[in-house]
Amino acid sequence: MAVKSKVRRIGIITGGGDCPGLNAVIRGVTKPAQDYGMSVFGILDGFEGLVEGRARELKNEDVSGILARGGTILGSSNKGDPFHWPINKDGKIEIVDKSEAALKNYKAWNLDAIIAIGGDGTMHICKKLSDMGMNMIGVPKTIDNDLDATDLTFGHDSAVFVVSEALDRLHTTASSHHRVIVVEVMGRYAGWIALNGGIAGGADIILIPEIPYSWEKVYDKIFKRELMGKRFSLVCVSEGAKPLGGEMVVKGHDMKRHDPVRLGGIGEVVAAKIEENTGRETRVTVLGHLQRGGSPTPFDRILSTKFGAFAIELADARKFGRMVALKGNEIKNVRIEEAILKQKLVKPDTQAVRAAKAVGISFGE
Ligand code: F6P
Repeated sequence: MAVKSKVRRIGIITGGGDCPGLNAVIRGVTKPAQDYGMSVFGILDGFEGLVEGRARELKNEDVSGILARGGTILGSSNKGDPFHWPINKDGKIEIVDKSEAALKNYKAWNLDAIIAIGGDGTMHICKKLSDMGMNMIGVPKTIDNDLDATDLTFGHDSAVFVVSEALDRLHTTASSHHRVIVVEVMGRYAGWIALNGGIAGGADIILIPEIPYSWEKVYDKIFKRELMGKRFSLVCVSEGAKPLGGEMVVKGHDMKRHDPVRLGGIGEVVAAKIEENTGRETRVTVLGHLQRGGSPTPFDRILSTKFGAFAIELADARKFGRMVALKGNEIKNVRIEEAILKQKLVKPDTQAVRAAKAVGISFGE
């Protein structure tokens, strides 16, 4: 029987947009690694560093004190896909394949495996690098919570916390001035941040991509609240929300990214429509990258630490091509293919939507 060689050297990479909890995972991987006799090599700026050969050794002292720190000490990028590498040719962006350079560095650094922390884009890259012969282990992160095959991604709870706190603050000013305040939140094509943040912050109306809304129902809800003596309303709108028969609001395109669409601007559209059609004074707050920055919540610190420590267990057991996943209260692992089969979107009859409706929140239906 062939003896499987021991894993001695692990690369770690943070891909895609950053989010709170990345450093907690890096710490969760690096601290236990030495007990397994492994060294950890931190690849810089996401997959850009893998292609360009930029990395540094990570020791215990490098990860000490980073549990609560936002961002990633390794740097990240959402433009460094080795299979979709943008180069500037005569002023034009051309896309080329740089995966051979990634493989060359993997070999030159003597890596036995790479732990890649990222969202759906990162998991697609992991799958392709696995197919080329690299030993990949995925750890799911994204504030959007749109990765299937895990009940939750770390980062989501921290984003929800920001939304909830913002709504609490906006409540007091909206009610003092008898205004409608529209809060635009992130999430791309999934409404999880708006749904969970909106429930936590007591929004009156939540608009998400999965439930196209009727403008009339949105105005109705504002008027109905007034009849109940509530002369203000809070609308939590997901950046990907769209009205019935309408489209998402696109801010621009970035051809260097795998998904070039950049969402943003729906908050202004919703506020203008409400003001025009109800005559009520309306304001907009776009939370933007506030939802991604800063310290992770305790929940995310715990989840990230569990994810990191479990990823090292998987590496030691040579379970490659797998993604760490939360299933109920247990940390499990799934095939990376499973994680990228489909996006996890909000089902319109999910319990959170039903509970929100039960307490009087309107989805503009
Ligand atoms: O996927 C995370 C996310 O924050 C989305 O919610 C948002 O649409 C996007 O990234 C913003 O990306 P960028 O940092 O490139 O503006």
